[in-house]
Amino acid sequence: MLSRTAILLSCSLLAIATAASTVRSSMKNTVEDAQEQLTKKIRCWEPIEENIAGAAFSGQHRLSEAVYELCSYMPDPKNWSKGYVNGVDMDSDDYTTVLHMFQNVARGYAVLNVCLQEGFQFHVQGRPSQVSMRCLCKRDGCNLPKGFTEFLEYNKLPMPETTF
Ligand SMILES: *[C@@H]1O[C@H](CO)[C@@H](O)[C@H](O)[C@H]1NC(C)=O
Repeated sequence: MLSRTAILLSCSLLAIATAASTVRSSMKNTVEDAQEQLTKKIRCWEPIEENIAGAAFSGQHRLSEAVYELCSYMPDPKNWSKGYVNGVDMDSDDYTTVLHMFQNVARGYAVLNVCLQEGFQFHVQGRPSQVSMRCLCKRDGCNLPKGFTEFLEYNKLPMPETTF
C-alpha cells in the first residue's frame, strides 16, 4: 500500500516536472513571437457591439475569432488614455505597404507595430485638417483596448498564449 502511494506520488511529481519543462520550452521572446505569428490569422480586440458609432456602446471589448491579418489601435485624438480598436477589414484600405513592412524580417528583427499619423482635409481649403493616429499590429490580441502607452508597453512583450 505504502509503495503504491510512493509510485503514484513519484508519477505525479514526474508529471509536474514534465509540465513545467513544457511551459519553459514554449517561452519565447518578442521577436520570436512576432516572426512565428507572421503567417497566422490573428484574433483582435473589438467592441462587443456591432456598431461602434451606436450611442449604446457599453465600452466593453472581446477577442475576435482568429480571422484577421492585422489589428488596429487608434488612440482617441483628444485623450490618449483611450483607444479605439478593431480587427482590420483588408478591403478598407490598401495595406500592401504595411504588410510589406511586417514581412521585412531579418535574423533577430521584427516589426511589432506600424503607426501612422495622418491628416485629412474634409472641409474646404484653409480650414484646419483633421489629424488621427492609428497603429497596425500583427499578433494575437495585440491591439489592447487600453491607453496608448499601455498598448505600446504591451507590444514590447510576447503575446500571452491565451488572452481572455
Ligand atoms: C481620458 O480617458 C480616461 C480613460 O477612459 C478617463 O479616465 C479620463 O477621465 C479621460 N480624460 C479626460 C480629460 O476626458
